[in-house]
Amino acid sequence: MTQNIARPADASGIFRLGGDLPIHRLGYGAMQLTGPGVWGPPEDPEEAVRVLRRAVELGVDFIDTADSYGPFVSEQLIHKALHPYPAGLVIATKGGLSRSGPDDWRPLGRPEYLRQQTELSLRHLGLERIDLYQLHRIDPQVPLADQIGELRLLQQEGKIRHIGLSEVTVEQIEEARTIADIVSVQNLYNLANRNAEDVLDYAERENLGFIPWFPMATGQLARPGGPLDTLAKTYDASPSQLALAWLLHRSPVTLPIPGTSRVSHVEENTHAAQFTLSDTEFQALSQAV
Ligand SMILES: NC(=O)c1ccc[n+]([C@@H]2O[C@H](COP(=O)([O-])OP(=O)(O)OC[C@H]3O[C@@H](n4cnc5c(N)ncnc54)[C@H](OP(=O)(O)O)[C@@H]3O)[C@@H](O)[C@H]2O)c1
Repeated sequence: MTQNIARPADASGIFRLGGDLPIHRLGYGAMQLTGPGVWGPPEDPEEAVRVLRRAVELGVDFIDTADSYGPFVSEQLIHKALHPYPAGLVIATKGGLSRSGPDDWRPLGRPEYLRQQTELSLRHLGLERIDLYQLHRIDPQVPLADQIGELRLLQQEGKIRHIGLSEVTVEQIEEARTIADIVSVQNLYNLANRNAEDVLDYAERENLGFIPWFPMATGQLARPGGPLDTLAKTYDASPSQLALAWLLHRSPVTLPIPGTSRVSHVEENTHAAQFTLSDTEFQALSQAV
């Protein structure tokens, strides 16, 4: 595989979020830019800044983050590294999970909390409007109409451009769409875990962006000796590139957001966009893992 294109993310093609917000399909997920357990600052904050700047240089114009990553550490690093933002950069954040410590995540969807977190994300990111605000988890203790209803109010006030969902079923997406326009879904999905197949098929039918989180199964698919290692050698790609190329081929609505805390990995991962699988290669990979 050649690695010499200056802006490899461009080769992943364009998806229009909500029909009016064009992004290159291969993005970057900023959850790894925090401390252990997604809590506190990263071990090397300067490398985190370099990762973000390099991603944008490589053509990435879709960055996924959340208020709860740190909390706020990831959003503040994005602000530090990239503000004032280049034209066309879309930052997608999320709210709806509270944090009490490392690896501790609790759904909290009360409208006043979602409003507070949106206001804080606007401040930490240095934005007047968030292009894509995703409900991180539906809080089972709060009526969905109250949670999505508050996001719709924030949208009407001009603080949110588009609304997305995360870790949802088809039924939940359909219910949410009776309350507000939903433009994207972010569910766990990768070559090794395809439990969200029905949600992806629904997103494709309805032209919603499908953001597969965990695209490399937190490195499991990328590790030497992992399930893709031998196959990757025959394709002249790295395992992570194969995992991402497979996701890009799977559907025109998939928007992978590989996460990393290293410049060398963001370079490797973004070059996956140059790697096009044939239908036969896609099928072979689907059956091999
Ligand atoms: N909606 C949700 O509930 C939810 C949940 C989890 C994540 N997300 C989002 O999805 C994004 C991606 O998920 P993720 O970061 O958990 O998992 P991932 O992208 O599947 O994997 C990230 C892991 O893989 C390693 N890695 C990355 N590139 C590599 C490469 N080329 N070779 C070897 N190892 C590599 C990283 O380590 P290094 O840092 O050492 O590269 C890191 O440990 C997150 O950043 C976040 O934005 C959303």
